[in-house]
Amino acid sequence: MCIFAPVKTEIGQDIQTAASFLRNGALVGIPTETVYGLAANALNPDAVLQIFQVKGRPTFNPLIVHVHDAAQFSLYAEELPDVIKLLAQHFCPGPLTFVLPKKSVIPDLVTGGGNTVALRVPGHPLTLQLLKSLDFPLAAPSANPFGYISPVTALHVQEQLDGKVAYILDGGPSMIGVESTVVMMRGESLVVLRVGGVSIESLREVYPNVVVEINQSSNPKSPGQLKSHYAPRIPLKLGTISELLNRYSHQKIAVLSFRETFNHSAIIAQEVLSREGDDAEAARNLFAALRRLDQTNADIIIAEKLPEKGLGMAINDRLERAAADH
Ligand code: TXA
Ligand code: MG
Repeated sequence: MCIFAPVKTEIGQDIQTAASFLRNGALVGIPTETVYGLAANALNPDAVLQIFQVKGRPTFNPLIVHVHDAAQFSLYAEELPDVIKLLAQHFCPGPLTFVLPKKSVIPDLVTGGGNTVALRVPGHPLTLQLLKSLDFPLAAPSANPFGYISPVTALHVQEQLDGKVAYILDGGPSMIGVESTVVMMRGESLVVLRVGGVSIESLREVYPNVVVEINQSSNPKSPGQLKSHYAPRIPLKLGTISELLNRYSHQKIAVLSFRETFNHSAIIAQEVLSREGDDAEAARNLFAALRRLDQTNADIIIAEKLPEKGLGMAINDRLERAAADH
């Protein structure tokens, strides 16, 4: 018999509570416009170490450091290229992360021992207020166990990290739904290391020389480049829904489609990302839909890609990684 009630991490909207836990070196779940983060004082290596422990994430994978204003980038990064300043003017706060040569104040643990640091201004009012009330920046990966689907609500964080974080700041559902786009300068080129909430098209409107270099590797520089990532427990197959329905018709099937619903006797659950065919709406729905399907007793999840434009690129990237063998 269990005598003690299980400890539930409290979910709330109290910035002061979140701030005092963070000042004491504890972990707090924070809302952002992309996905929820698992935050710690980025300047405190003991606090940051807990992020890796709680996520089960290898320490060679660097973390993103969150600040409340792009003007703070120069505190943590060496000289900012003009292109980065221009992009920051357009996209901060927002789902764009800048990889820059780091200053020594950033602990090696945050950058995976490397000499660059990833900086971002998250576009969420609660987290911006929280950051303003602190005198340190926040290191925060997505608040999911390593390799699993990213959380887009406070409840998702609680479901998976209950008792392992001190507090979860509830800012409602994440409005973008996929992680930030990660960029760095190489010569005159802006290199995209991870496709995300800022589309390639909108980057090119501000700075045309954009090169996309998202490789899928099992030993990458950065976790977002891991071949298998964002993965549900139930195996996921990517392709044309009607073909996959025929191929797996002897199994219990969960369907993740872009705009259409499908009829087939093998279907036991179904999620449509955007009936209007809107890529931004699809991104907002992606991870929650994937989680719901993963909680069914389906044998297999079948999914289709979106057109490769706008946030469709980021969605397809996450689906490909979710489908990779793991
Ligand atoms: O939207 C987001 O970016 C969310 C929210 C919480 O801010 N955070 C997030 O963190 O997705 P995480 O740890 O799951 O992914 C970190 C990504 C890696 O995939 C990698 O591409 C990049 O940030 N990264 C971090 N530091 C880097 C560095 N020094 N060099 C290259 N890439 C880096
Ligand atoms: Mg992540």
